[in-house]
Amino acid sequence: MQYAKILGTGSYLPANRVSNDDLAKKIDTSDEWITSRTGIKFRHIADENEQTSDLAVIAARNALENAGMAADEIDLIIVATSTPDMIFPSTATIVQQKLGIGATGCPAFDVQAVCAGFMYAITTANAYIKSGMAKNVLVIGAETFSRILNWEDRTTCVLFGDGAGAVVLGASDEPGIIHSKLQADGDYIDLLKTPGQVVNGQVCGTPFLTMDGPGVFKFAVKMLAKVAEDVLKESGYTSAQIDWIVPHQANKRIIESTAKHLHLSMDKVILTVENHGNTSAASIPLALDSGIRNGQIQRGQHLLLEGIGGGFAWGAVLLKY
Ligand code: UT7
Repeated sequence: MQYAKILGTGSYLPANRVSNDDLAKKIDTSDEWITSRTGIKFRHIADENEQTSDLAVIAARNALENAGMAADEIDLIIVATSTPDMIFPSTATIVQQKLGIGATGCPAFDVQAVCAGFMYAITTANAYIKSGMAKNVLVIGAETFSRILNWEDRTTCVLFGDGAGAVVLGASDEPGIIHSKLQADGDYIDLLKTPGQVVNGQVCGTPFLTMDGPGVFKFAVKMLAKVAEDVLKESGYTSAQIDWIVPHQANKRIIESTAKHLHLSMDKVILTVENHGNTSAASIPLALDSGIRNGQIQRGQHLLLEGIGGGFAWGAVLLKY
């Protein structure tokens, strides 16, 4: 039996760090409101010359170095993003080119499941490894959400930021990913969307993110608790066996609610939302890399990753690190 095991992780946040107080100088908001409602203190904003693929490549190089692996040993690249550099080609192929491994011919593609993107990408990578179709997979979540925010809409612009996280998964005889579950319900499209379209090279509609915040909050709390519980039940694990929850970092109150539902204290949660806000598909690998590099997460421990976002799409992954 082949497992997909995490061999290395990496991440990157753009240099420009914007505080709640910085935002309060430009729009009608406050550090008190943002902190108490979301737990967010800072977000990082990409430079105008920095593309999603640039963030992804730095995170990828860090992950490869951490795994002790050369880029040309990778035989599949999957990038989870909803803010690609271009409509096409995929950001994954641009990352492949920037890593200088185009000549290997390894397959490369994007997955688009918004804030659940990393759950979808890592689950796809797991399927490739388990079926023997790939051995070493680079899985990246990378976003420049700052480009699709209406910076005059205080109900959304204070919540999001830019960043990238990457994981190198390798085939192993020892347990890595144990179980995963993905779900989606397109009946909830209107809760969170960026409805602008590009038609014949022209942007039509609203190219900005719109969200029913309270509606998303209620749906997220319910579905994250359910999918986390399902993954544990279906794999024969109990929450007592989980060393760390590594959740999507959107809102501290949603994260607290999931932990409470699983009867786990916040001491068992990797929490980084304060430092980078909601970075959509990048948030889970950013939190994972942070937890590993600061020594919270140790080899042999069991992790529960979970995320939810536009679509609606959501999922959870149980793994042994
Ligand atoms: O990755 C998944 C994507 N998103 C999420 O997970 C977000 C889920 N939702 C949330 O996190 C929360 O619903 C928010 C943080 C977005 C909003 O918190 P809330 O407690 O649901 O606030 P609300 O939308 O009910 O707004 C309460 C008040 C309103 O004022 P009134 O009508 O009561 O006078 C808003 O206008 O807060 C006001 N408000 C703000 N005030 C200061 C909304 N945004 C701001 C702001 N600063 N940035």
